[in-house]
Amino acid sequence: MKIWVPLDSAAKALGADEVAGAIASEAAARGLDVQVIRNGSRGMIWLEPLVEVEQDGVRVGYGPVSAEDVPALLDGKLASLGPVDAIPFYAKQTRLTFARVGVIDPLDLADYEAHGGLAGLRRAIAMSGAEIVKEVTESGLRGRGGAGFPTGIKWNTVLGAEADQKYIVCNADEGDSGTFADRMVMEGDPFSLIEGMAIAGLGVGATRGYVYLRSEYPDAIVVMEEAVRRARAAGVLGTDVLGSGKGFDMEIRVGAGAYVCGEETSLLNSLEGKRGIVRAKPPLPALEGFLGKPTVVNNVLSLATVPVIFEKGAAHYAGFGLGRSKGTMPIQIAGNVKFGGLFETAFGMPLGELVNEVAGGTASGRPVKAVQVGGPLGAYLHPDQFDTPFGYEEFDKAGGLIGHAGVVIFDDSADMLKMARFAMEFCAVESCGKCTPCRIGAVRGVETIDRIAEGDASAIGLLTDLCETMKEGSLCALGGFTPFPVMSALRHFPDDFARQKEAAE
Ligand SMILES: Cc1cc2nc3c(=O)[nH]c(=O)nc-3n(C[C@H](O)[C@H](O)[C@H](O)COP(=O)(O)O)c2cc1C
Ligand code: SF4
Repeated sequence: MKIWVPLDSAAKALGADEVAGAIASEAAARGLDVQVIRNGSRGMIWLEPLVEVEQDGVRVGYGPVSAEDVPALLDGKLASLGPVDAIPFYAKQTRLTFARVGVIDPLDLADYEAHGGLAGLRRAIAMSGAEIVKEVTESGLRGRGGAGFPTGIKWNTVLGAEADQKYIVCNADEGDSGTFADRMVMEGDPFSLIEGMAIAGLGVGATRGYVYLRSEYPDAIVVMEEAVRRARAAGVLGTDVLGSGKGFDMEIRVGAGAYVCGEETSLLNSLEGKRGIVRAKPPLPALEGFLGKPTVVNNVLSLATVPVIFEKGAAHYAGFGLGRSKGTMPIQIAGNVKFGGLFETAFGMPLGELVNEVAGGTASGRPVKAVQVGGPLGAYLHPDQFDTPFGYEEFDKAGGLIGHAGVVIFDDSADMLKMARFAMEFCAVESCGKCTPCRIGAVRGVETIDRIAEGDASAIGLLTDLCETMKEGSLCALGGFTPFPVMSALRHFPDDFARQKEAAE
């Protein structure tokens, strides 16, 4: 009998380790032959710990399961959710990047291969660097870390650079509020990231890779380090990748907890052991990156999507999506919401469908007031904008951004002036200090919003001017994009800024 219990840290936080332990000891006490497999999470966080039991070849789900439920589970008396694949939240998805997450044992390389793993790398080995880069370009893949920059163009720049050493750096700093997709990949399907990095290395001619992984993800660090060891032992990494005669190896480096170290140049400084401060561009990291050498810096999701592009072909991937937003996006649903978790779908789904149908509206049952998409630098969107399709250009037109696709939902009890203040405060705390509009502007922004809260309506004009200065004058997107949440809160929810005045009078 096979039983799956997630090792994902969200499931563990909800008691998955205790459940796995209880299943093992109860099965031993009953003399049952039970194999407990620790999988990644299926991404339905409200059902965690989600336990799956194989019945007639079908994985039947139970959840949330507690250690006390285990005797009933083994007696077959616990109410089931039916086949996990058929749970509507899961069944509605198009899983390409996340196809194996929750399905396989993350550290079992044979299981990985049995589910399509390494097919992409094997195909890439038979291709030239230029052909590999062309395949990525034709897939339409755009960076999933924030800026949505075409991955193929970035790789092509590194491919064309002359150097004795090139690098692949994976950005696993995942600092955006409400995001967890990178973590889920690293904990649930780490070989996909390793395979993606190896393909990138073969493509651009880089022989070394680094994953810059945030210290707040201790479980992901352990899984990734073990996966790298196993990949090396199996010849997937090393001097002769899968017998190709070409070398690529990589290691995990742990960050120290600064949001700005997710910005690629700041990350490179940190990776070199320096203070995590933003570098002026040019030079682009693609030409002078890690240790001054040509470097591909890509997000976890961008790199972990590469294997499926090579396994199924660029045209297959590009066949999903909307306009210039090709393929699928692993959307992370969080905040005041009924069904939170990971939902991978082709670009194009209207925001309202995602919030009201997929996520089931607010957990509180109150009306949705605002949705912040794209982390702490993303705009607050109003329910009037719910027909906006999930796509880079479409969100841009609506004054928002997709970023790393974190979707955080707020009900009508949220005070948007407080949220605007929080955005400025966050920027003030996390600013690297290199440029004045951000370092000083964010502090002044907090003070100005406090004046508005105290009833000084004249400060609204000042806040607007300040936001314009930060937007135009900041060196990186931390200072440059903080005005988006602030100004969208002011634009869409003016009552929250005026009400403060009434309260003060
Ligand atoms: C303040 C700030 C924080 C960022 N944090 C992250 C992050 O945590 N993860 C990430 O992949 N990209 C982050 N980015 C974007 C990176 O600078 C860069 O665009 C990205 O790593 C490139 O990879 P991609 O093309 O695959 O998206 C951040 C940018 C800024 C300005
Ligand atoms: S905008 Fe802020 S974080 Fe970015 S370089 Fe300037 S001071 Fe540093």
